[in-house]
Amino acid sequence: MKIDKVKSLIEEVKAFAAGTEKEIEDFRIRILGNKGELKQLFAQFKEVAPEEKKEYGQVLNELKHVAEARVDELKQALKQQQSSAEADSLDLSRPVNQQKVGSRHPISLIRNRIVEIFQNIGYEVSVGPEIEDDWHNFTALNFPPEHPARDMQDTFFIDKDPDIALRTHTSSVQVRMMESQSPPIRTISPGRVYRNEAISARAHCFFHQVEGLYIDKNVSFADLRQTLFYFARTLFGEDTEIRLRPSYFPFTEPSAEMDVSCTICSGKGCNVCKYTGFLEIMGCGMVDPNVLENCGIDSKVYSGFAFGMGIERIAQLKYNVNDLRLYSENDAQFLEQFRSSL
Ligand code: PHE
Repeated sequence: MKIDKVKSLIEEVKAFAAGTEKEIEDFRIRILGNKGELKQLFAQFKEVAPEEKKEYGQVLNELKHVAEARVDELKQALKQQQSSAEADSLDLSRPVNQQKVGSRHPISLIRNRIVEIFQNIGYEVSVGPEIEDDWHNFTALNFPPEHPARDMQDTFFIDKDPDIALRTHTSSVQVRMMESQSPPIRTISPGRVYRNEAISARAHCFFHQVEGLYIDKNVSFADLRQTLFYFARTLFGEDTEIRLRPSYFPFTEPSAEMDVSCTICSGKGCNVCKYTGFLEIMGCGMVDPNVLENCGIDSKVYSGFAFGMGIERIAQLKYNVNDLRLYSENDAQFLEQFRSSL
């Protein structure tokens, strides 16, 4: 009896179980495929006795629906099984993979901070070339011809006649600013400078500076002092005291060195400040009238002040780093300590 055969096949389909995708697919092809059992049974339609044709058609349809439903059901069950297995393998209490975040170089951190402090009181940032001519690095700045800085021992010369050298300070940028702009000028010049020094913990053949310049009518030494006082207190803290000591630079008159109260002992005296209570951090002074005239500014109308500091020196005080070489060795262990920004 063909009908019985179909009915038993229906039972078989209903009971069929499979654990893999392949088993399900094989089963589908066996029953429902182009050459599958269902097709073959349909083909036998003509052999069925006329009075049984109706019922035969019905059981075949039932077989088709039952088989399709079973395949869907099995696929669904398999999918669920897979996703719950995946969830079981996720350990939500595991620590996350740490993503390494880069850090700024300590010199950049300090430079940015110094620049920010002066920008807040109206200074503009200016930059210039690291390879300079004699005029911008020395002559315009009132260096006498026999000045030792003009010696090969102190300066890296690239060319002679005309003299071309690696700039020894960013005062050269200030000359360029005075030549190209008319007062009032308020500018700071951060940058790398070069000096012919043997490399040691305390000296390097290059370092970084921020120099500042303010030119206007009636600029006085009191303005210089107050500006630097504001700077020192903003950078080192509200209790910081400053001290100006007479000094000499060819391009300023009068000139001074500025000290700040020791950042370690607050002025009480310790071995960092050599028991003086103060630390020297920059040179400064009133721009020499000769320099103004060299740059085309009328020194009878205008006056100004300038100052310059080494970024490494400030970083040394801020971060307590005592070996200058660390700043240019790219030692990851050193650099990673500066991950939080200043
Ligand atoms: N240019 C000086 C230096 O490199 C610093 C300085 C700048 C001093 C401006 C006085 C005024 O040492």
